[in-house]
Formats: sequence, C-alpha cells, structure tokens
Amino acid sequence: MKKPSRENRKQTGCSCWGDCTCSEKAKGPEPWYSFRNCVTHISIIIISVLMARFWLHVIYPSSFVALAGKDPLDAPVWHEVPCSNDYEEEVFLECKPKRCGRAVMDNLVSRDDAEHLLRLAKRGLSHGGSNGGASILDLHSGALSMGDKFVNIFKIAETDDSLFTEEDFRIYRRVKDQIRQAVADKFDVPVDKLHLTKPTFFSRMDTKKAQTKHDEYWHVHVDKETYGSFHYTSLLYLTTYKNDFQGGRFVFADKDYNRTVEPRVGRVSFFTSGSENPHFVERLREGVRYAITVSFTCDPAKAIADPKIK
Ligand SMILES: *[C@@H]1O[C@H](CO)[C@@H](O)[C@H](O)[C@H]1NC(C)=O
Repeated sequence: MKKPSRENRKQTGCSCWGDCTCSEKAKGPEPWYSFRNCVTHISIIIISVLMARFWLHVIYPSSFVALAGKDPLDAPVWHEVPCSNDYEEEVFLECKPKRCGRAVMDNLVSRDDAEHLLRLAKRGLSHGGSNGGASILDLHSGALSMGDKFVNIFKIAETDDSLFTEEDFRIYRRVKDQIRQAVADKFDVPVDKLHLTKPTFFSRMDTKKAQTKHDEYWHVHVDKETYGSFHYTSLLYLTTYKNDFQGGRFVFADKDYNRTVEPRVGRVSFFTSGSENPHFVERLREGVRYAITVSFTCDPAKAIADPKIK
C-alpha cells in the first residue's frame, strides 16, 4: 500500500479523537494514517501520567500529605477520624470523645503570647538541657532535663529571682485557657469537665544524637497508651518549620497517608488522644524546634493545678 501524500494528510485531518468518519470517507491509505496519529497521542498521555507520578513521588516520598502546611491558615482545619474503642469502658460521659479527629488553628493564640512563651522556654531551658536531642521543661512539677536526668527548675529559681515573673505565668494560664476553650468547643464538652493533666511541658528538640529513650521522639505512639490520663492532646508551636528548623514536622501516621502538621509560631493543633491518632515527630535535620504540649483529661482525679511561682 502506498503512503498518503502530504496533501492527502492535510485534507483528511483524521485523528483518534475524531469520530473517524474519515475512515469511511477516505479510501485506501487513510486507516494507516489515523492509526499512527492515535499511537502518538496515546503515547503522549502515558508519558505525561508517568512523569506526573514521578514528580509527585519526589515531592511526597512515602505518601506524606500536609494537613496544615507552613503558610497561615485562612480557616481552622478539621479532619475527623472514626473513634477507636479506647473510650468505651470509661465513665466520663459528658467529657470523653463522642467524635474524634484533629484540628489545627492559627488564630487562637496571639503571636505576642507565643513569642513571650518562647522566651520563657529558652530562659528556663538555658539552665539545663538533655545530652540527647530532646529536652523538656515542666512548670507544674518543675522538671527540667539536665544531662540524662532531670532537676527541679524551682530550686534554680530560688537563687535567681529574675528567672520567672508573674507575667510569665499569667500568659501561660491565659494561653492554656484559650486552648482548653477551643478543645471544649470543638468536641462539645462542658469546659469545666476538661482538666489540665500531666505531663504538660515545653519541649526543645535539636539535632544532637539521642542518648536515652526520652530523646527518641520519632517513634509512632498513642498518647493515651503513653500517658494513661490523656483524653485530648494539644500542641502550641513556638517556632516555624523551615524558618527555624528542617524536618520536625508533626505526623499523624494513618494507614493511607502520613498527614503532616507543619509547625509555625502560634499554631495550635489538638486531637483526641486515643489510638485513632497514632503520631510521631519527624527527625530534625537542622535547627531547634520549640513547642508546648498541653494535655487534658476527663478524670478529675488526674487534674493538675496551674503553675505559680513557688
Ligand atoms: C509514613 O512514614 C513512615 C516514616 O517515614 C513510613 O515508614 C511509613 O511507611 C509512611 N506511611 C505511609 C502510609 O506512607
């Protein structure tokens, strides 16, 4: 069979998208020409799909998707997940989760308050610090990481009047109350049924090599298993992903995806503490990451008081 002339091709213009009436109209060489066009188009589609998949894989290795990216949120993020049966046996009917999930809010805590708390965290932690990559400061118990142990920050405060001020504690309480109210609203719990519990603490993560189990924050865990009393866990971030550190994203380890919350100064995330919310913090690659974990329980017997200057 003879190849169609250049003129013939122009005239017919048949492709695999067309209704290919041309195959009826055009006699002789036409079907061959149509087939070649079709193969070209399908190849382009296949190559595009493969390239898109490749780049998506480069951008999101092992299925990481952002629940809340680094940029400010226009509106709070809410991601509901089915509750685990962790709460079934419990008696705190008004308070225990009726629905479960994660929320992220950027406009709850003011930037000034977050920055004040960051200065407070830095000041407190400057008196101690773990040998490994994770240090804590707990203003309720006074626990401060020191080497591979803990010391009491209030003992140190006795010899240093300028360590904490009334203002520090006032802001700490205000921020805690703002978060408690937001948790109560989101989960439809009377706010007076929601109690602060321990541990509630500042954390500092850096890239030092882990020395003890406490330093290994990157293992998947469930808060209700790790700390029996928790019903709702919240986090207030005091530094920002990519500006202050690399790595260090908060990750909900779901079956289908790893859903990340990228820390940013003043961002609050909170979630039900049961096994519907397994999570970990990605290992830090650079910089220093500060946050506060504020924990709530439904069990009045597990409540702790607000911190004050001792
Ligand atoms: C989530 O990330 C962890 C650690 O990188 C990885 O082992 C796991 O396979 C990821 N899960 C999904 C669903 O991609």
